[in-house]
Amino acid sequence: MTNIVKICSITAMVFLLSGAASCSKSINSDDVAIENARQQMKGQIDLIEEHPDTFLNPTTLKSDGTLFYCPVDDWRSGFFPGAMWYLYELTGDESLLPLAAKYTKAVSDAQHVRFHHDVGFMVGCSFGNALRLTGDTTTYAPAIVEAAKSLCTRFRPAAGVIQSWDVEPGGEREKKGWRCPTIIDNVMNLELLFEATRLSGDSTYYNVAVSHADRTLKEHFRPNGSCYHVIDYDPVSGDVRHRQTAQGCSDESAWARGQSWAIYGFTTVYRYTGDRRYLDRAEKTFDFVKNHPNMPSDLVPYWDLDAPGIPDEPRDVSTAAVIASGLYEMCRYCPDKAKEYKAYADNIMKSLASADYTAPFGENGNFILMHSVTSKPANVEIDVPLNYADYYYLEALKRKRDLEAGKSFK
Ligand code: GLY
Repeated sequence: MTNIVKICSITAMVFLLSGAASCSKSINSDDVAIENARQQMKGQIDLIEEHPDTFLNPTTLKSDGTLFYCPVDDWRSGFFPGAMWYLYELTGDESLLPLAAKYTKAVSDAQHVRFHHDVGFMVGCSFGNALRLTGDTTTYAPAIVEAAKSLCTRFRPAAGVIQSWDVEPGGEREKKGWRCPTIIDNVMNLELLFEATRLSGDSTYYNVAVSHADRTLKEHFRPNGSCYHVIDYDPVSGDVRHRQTAQGCSDESAWARGQSWAIYGFTTVYRYTGDRRYLDRAEKTFDFVKNHPNMPSDLVPYWDLDAPGIPDEPRDVSTAAVIASGLYEMCRYCPDKAKEYKAYADNIMKSLASADYTAPFGENGNFILMHSVTSKPANVEIDVPLNYADYYYLEALKRKRDLEAGKSFK
């Protein structure tokens, strides 16, 4: 089925479904995108349910055309369960609830991961959404608090930051001379700490989150509003030793997803603290991205905004989805800019829902979106579907719908 035929048939199905309730109800493009997501993810679910021991957590498509299913300790293990919660929320389909619960339980061990910083993504996106939607603190809160404890083992008091990556003897990071590499992505893990304080009453997690946010605010950003990828600290003196990159094209370039983590992450920190400095940071980084001369007209950025081969460089759809979702939240805090931010996010969503980025039905490993990049410098997963692009796209659809309905943020 071509993409056009598929979108037409999904439109027809949405029309028939809604027509039963009301002939005058207009079909909006988000309904089509949601129905498309439901159908694509059904393909992923069917495979998992047929082979539950092997195919658990769809992550990306390998170059041989088969799916990669990540292990629980992979930083991406929370996105598929999280996407299931969003799909349930967007469709209201209750048959998805036990599946979302089952896939969340399957990543329980993520709460004990202490060898990298990504437990915020892993446990926040899975258990965090489970708790938000079910209110079941008995089942879901302990894993969030335990994961926060795990994350805090990586706090380095002299620098006031959570160390992102370990430095293994003889490994790449040691060769670079790093001692306490801390990446911009880490601001995305702070929501887990704020939630842990809310659930446990222990302010330790909140304080670690604020310390990390403050030092990141001070060290990670350039005067033009963009951010570095990696800051390496001296864990004893707390001084900055290096400002570099791992996934960008050069130390001074603007790695696209890093910018999106900063925009989204600092907006989240503002939600929990009410401290305007964090929101200002998110807005300044968004301004940088928005005004960058290499931003394409469809608003889906190249993998690095300064990549040398632009326009012949891959786009990164995951960046676009993260920016859209972050902007829908920023709309709530920036009344003067809300119209502008919403229009920008809506334009991203329009691009992502188009045949340029939404996969033909049954293709793309049943991931919703095409064309993301993990790491071009490492030659890993270039121009592929990624489960976190789908996750933030579904989240953005949900936030857009809530915003348009005037619902309070949850
Ligand atoms: N946090 C890893 C990445 O953004 O690729």
